[in-house]
Amino acid sequence: KQSHLQVYLLSALTLAHIRNIIGSGIFISPKGVLEHSGSVGLALVVWVLGGCIAALGSLCYAELGVTIPKSGGDYSYVTEIFGGLMGFLLLWSAVLIMYPTTLAVIALTFSSYILQPVFPDCVPPYVATRMLSATCLLLLTWVNCSSVRMATRIQDVFTVGKLMALGLIIVVGLVQICNGNLLRLRPRSSAAAIALAFLQASFAFSGWNFLNYVTEEVVEPRRNLPRAIYISIPLVTFVYTLTNIAYFSSMSPEELLSSNAVAVTFGEKLLGMFSVIMPISVALSTFGGINGYLFTSSRLCFSGAREGHLPSLLAMIHYKKCTPIPALLVCCAATIVILCIGETHNLINYVSFINYLSYGVTIAGLLYHRWKKPDLFRPIKVNLLVPVCYLMFWALLLGFSLYSEPLVCGVGLVIMLTGVPVYFLGVHWKEKPKCIYNFIGEFPKGGLATYVGQRLCFVVFPQIDPIEIDDPSEWTDRS
Ligand code: TRP
Repeated sequence: KQSHLQVYLLSALTLAHIRNIIGSGIFISPKGVLEHSGSVGLALVVWVLGGCIAALGSLCYAELGVTIPKSGGDYSYVTEIFGGLMGFLLLWSAVLIMYPTTLAVIALTFSSYILQPVFPDCVPPYVATRMLSATCLLLLTWVNCSSVRMATRIQDVFTVGKLMALGLIIVVGLVQICNGNLLRLRPRSSAAAIALAFLQASFAFSGWNFLNYVTEEVVEPRRNLPRAIYISIPLVTFVYTLTNIAYFSSMSPEELLSSNAVAVTFGEKLLGMFSVIMPISVALSTFGGINGYLFTSSRLCFSGAREGHLPSLLAMIHYKKCTPIPALLVCCAATIVILCIGETHNLINYVSFINYLSYGVTIAGLLYHRWKKPDLFRPIKVNLLVPVCYLMFWALLLGFSLYSEPLVCGVGLVIMLTGVPVYFLGVHWKEKPKCIYNFIGEFPKGGLATYVGQRLCFVVFPQIDPIEIDDPSEWTDRS
């Protein structure tokens, strides 16, 4: 009985992890990886290495997750280890860049796949893709605002889409290879370009750190967390590599580079009359991806507001439906702005750069924490080489990508640094004039703005038992 339960828990955790990671990246970034790495062989190396780096990072995060048992992931660890400012910068860049940009990329993938069959011979018009992405986003924001149940249901149903798409690609691709269609290898590239290829591949692997948002809820994390990582990351790497091999065996590098929706091109070449399966299943997969991502995005807002780093309104939930409406609305609005100004592959570089920056800071925090508190009990303690290797790779990657895409990566850095004055004005400055306090308020008391927001969205703090509230004027404790 015991061991059955163990196996069940472990597989549920592993599946959740895999489902989190695989979404849209594998359908959109093979093009970018090939473009920057310059040859099929190097592109495959980049994919495999990307998986290895994700594995190293995951192990470090597992140690942090069980040593500092707080939900909120990297943000909580950095706040704990390096203090408020660093934590705030991480949160700032997550709310302003990471979340909306990732959502924008997934939404754009969704609309490119839907529109590709409609415009078979050309690139779908700019306005059409943006409109479709925004519509899908608004729809899912509405679903997430109206019911937690419906949102999780969508998640379960739409996972089927991703399994179908990837399974089909891999099987058909292997058949191709067995028929003697081998890969064409032709190396030529530079270190700076490879860094960009890595950023592209990393997008598809990111999400490995999301397991840390739930470490508090994992049963026996000391045993289950590393095992889930050992199974899921190699599996994801394997699937991604096979998928790429399938792409490469069925089309020439030029064909791949000219396609905006690789899997559609793949389907058109190999599936004949069944080729519509491809865009449909990828669209389902990305639709589920957006939904899942929106669903988790509010978790960070809770931890941020708890630390006093974000307005408390963002941590509130609907008094009856328990959905985090303000956080969802902010996330949706920011995503639509980014959707309208960005182009998919640039957005991927931009978000991966900032992602890497924050992973690196967190893993440096791991080393610093070990040095500062050497005697603290660490249920999991990874080999020192793991974080050190990660950080060395990290420094090289960031250096080279800043060198080859100064504008895209620089903008990310600048936006992150704008958080410094905001931190000092908003969080650090304790003796603000009374009128400011009356307007925004201070956790857990809300000011006027919070009060109006609460009225508009019908939201309250999660701690309050909804049944006890019958008079709406008690929603904020303004005494
Ligand atoms: N890796 C995901 C994909 O392939 C996209 C993604 C990027 C993601 N960052 C994430 C997913 C963070 C979950 C959490 O679509």
